[in-house]
Amino acid sequence: MSEISGSRTLHRLIYASRQAIEPVRVNEEVDAIVRISIRNNRQTAITGLLLVHDGWFLQALEGPAEAAMTAYRRILEDPRHKEARVVSAGPASSRAFGDWNMCARRMSHADDAILRTLASREIDFLTLGGDHALRLLKAVRSIQTRTGLARSA
Ligand SMILES: Cc1cc2nc3c(=O)[nH]c(=O)nc-3n(C[C@H](O)[C@H](O)[C@H](O)COP(=O)(O)O)c2cc1C
Repeated sequence: MSEISGSRTLHRLIYASRQAIEPVRVNEEVDAIVRISIRNNRQTAITGLLLVHDGWFLQALEGPAEAAMTAYRRILEDPRHKEARVVSAGPASSRAFGDWNMCARRMSHADDAILRTLASREIDFLTLGGDHALRLLKAVRSIQTRTGLARSA
């Protein structure tokens, strides 16, 4: 295997999925997901960000290729979401979400307006492409860095 695709090379995987959680329980479940994720991801050098918006999850997982794929396969089995679709996956030159083993951002309407401007179009999770998804998550990262209290790493 070449160095670039080797299992120790940094990879980033972004996927979108639909929430399968009763709306009143979303906050509680997302808190539980983040708690477990921090514990697990710390052990396998995974960092990332989970965007929670409008019935959707959009998550970036970055770390050694093998660890990122193993985490994704486990996450896929989780009944709290469905219809997961990989938006992008491949080697990355550096971590974009290195501040957090995992961190969730639940979007408010104010955030939504900011993101629409930053991403310069409506967010359609069904058709979102890799570049757009990464831009979106990086925009969320800067909002979270400025306003977020919960540091996870
Ligand atoms: C949207 C979503 C994102 C998740 N992200 C992670 C994650 O980044 N890391 C992780 O270990 N588990 C994550 N989970 C939870 C896993 O599906 C699973 O419940 C957990 O890894 C089980 O951990 P345990 O075997 O240590 O109890 C996520 C679940 C959902 C629904």
